[in-house]
Formats: sequence, C-alpha cells, structure tokens
Amino acid sequence: ANYTIVDQDTCIACGACGATAPDVFDYNDDGVAFSLLDDNKGNKQIPDEWLEDVEDAFEGCPTESIRLAEAPFEGDPNKFG
Ligand code: F3S
Repeated sequence: ANYTIVDQDTCIACGACGATAPDVFDYNDDGVAFSLLDDNKGNKQIPDEWLEDVEDAFEGCPTESIRLAEAPFEGDPNKFG
C-alpha cells in the first residue's frame, strides 16, 4: 500500500483522517478530506515515515473513503474497485 486517495463522493467529513495522519490528509471548505500529497490525485508515493499513519486512517475511516493501493490511482478513487 503505497498510494492513497480520498473518495470525496463518500467522505462524510467526519474529521478522523486528518487527526490520524495530519501530514497526509486535510479538509476542504466543506470539511471533505483530500490527500495533501498531490491534491488528491493518488499518484504520489506515500513517504515511508507517514505510511503507518495512513494505514491507521484507512482503517479508521467510517465510510471506507480512504483508499490504499500499490499503484497510482490517476485521480480515480474507484480505479481498483
Ligand atoms: Fe472523510 Fe473518512 Fe476522513 S469520512 S474526513 S475520509 S476519515
């Protein structure tokens, strides 16, 4: 799991991910999360030092809106199903 993206269509702005992985996730004006790594494109590899936080955020998201994959998402949170 080296790439991450937020599905903004399903994020309910719960605020958990940015608290868990503040270097990787932030929120837009509506409170909807996005990846700071590359403006939520899911194309930039997660730096090793933040990977554990991202995995924790992945597990903690109540709507499973945080995606993780070993290949780039190319902007599509549903690229890998
Ligand atoms: Fe949204 Fe899940 Fe984060 S609901 S705010 S992506 S923890």
